[in-house]
Amino acid sequence: MTMTPEELLRAFHARNVEYLRLGHDRLAAARFVVDAAIELRGPALDVGTGKGLLAIELARRGLEVVSIDVDDQERGLARLLADDAGLASRITFEDGNAAKLPYADGRFGCVAMTDVLHHLADPHPVLREMARVVNVGGILLIAEFDEQGFELVSRVHRAELEQDRKLMARATAKFLVKGCM
Ligand SMILES: C[S@@+](CC[C@H](N)C(=O)[O-])C[C@H]1O[C@@H](n2cnc3c(N)ncnc32)[C@H](O)[C@@H]1O
Repeated sequence: MTMTPEELLRAFHARNVEYLRLGHDRLAAARFVVDAAIELRGPALDVGTGKGLLAIELARRGLEVVSIDVDDQERGLARLLADDAGLASRITFEDGNAAKLPYADGRFGCVAMTDVLHHLADPHPVLREMARVVNVGGILLIAEFDEQGFELVSRVHRAELEQDRKLMARATAKFLVKGCM
């Protein structure tokens, strides 16, 4: 299902509220990951950028960022969020597969990837590509959900499904009532 940019933004903020209700701040998590890097050097590459939370945080630290993802819809939302944060001019959003990065060897000072490993049937080509495009002395920054993180994501997805079911039931009830009149 294709959503409008406004719908995507609404869904993103609603999901953030649900995460916060469960005690998790997604923006703080991106800050935490970037803080974990000993020393950040640009330009940075964010692999599997999704909604761009990490790319935005890297740009906030003053780095020029290239963000790459295979999903058009996610890339569109990431661009909107970067724009909202006033950081879009520092981030280049590109369409591409992380298993075949279209960049020269050693092009980046930092190559980052958060919560993407679990999407990959075989992570080896992606990890090899990340190692190829980071320069000597550069930083590879990789973070992934732990078991608690996966459980949290499932709870949020279940809550969203429940909410959709309720909305659907309400819409059907209205339709039936109208049908009776
Ligand atoms: C959970 S999201 C990542 C979240 C994001 N890194 C953040 O910090 O907010 C996973 C993303 O990886 C992308 N992805 C999965 N496989 C990919 C691949 N082979 N190349 C590029 N992007 C990929 C998906 O399209 C999705 O947007």
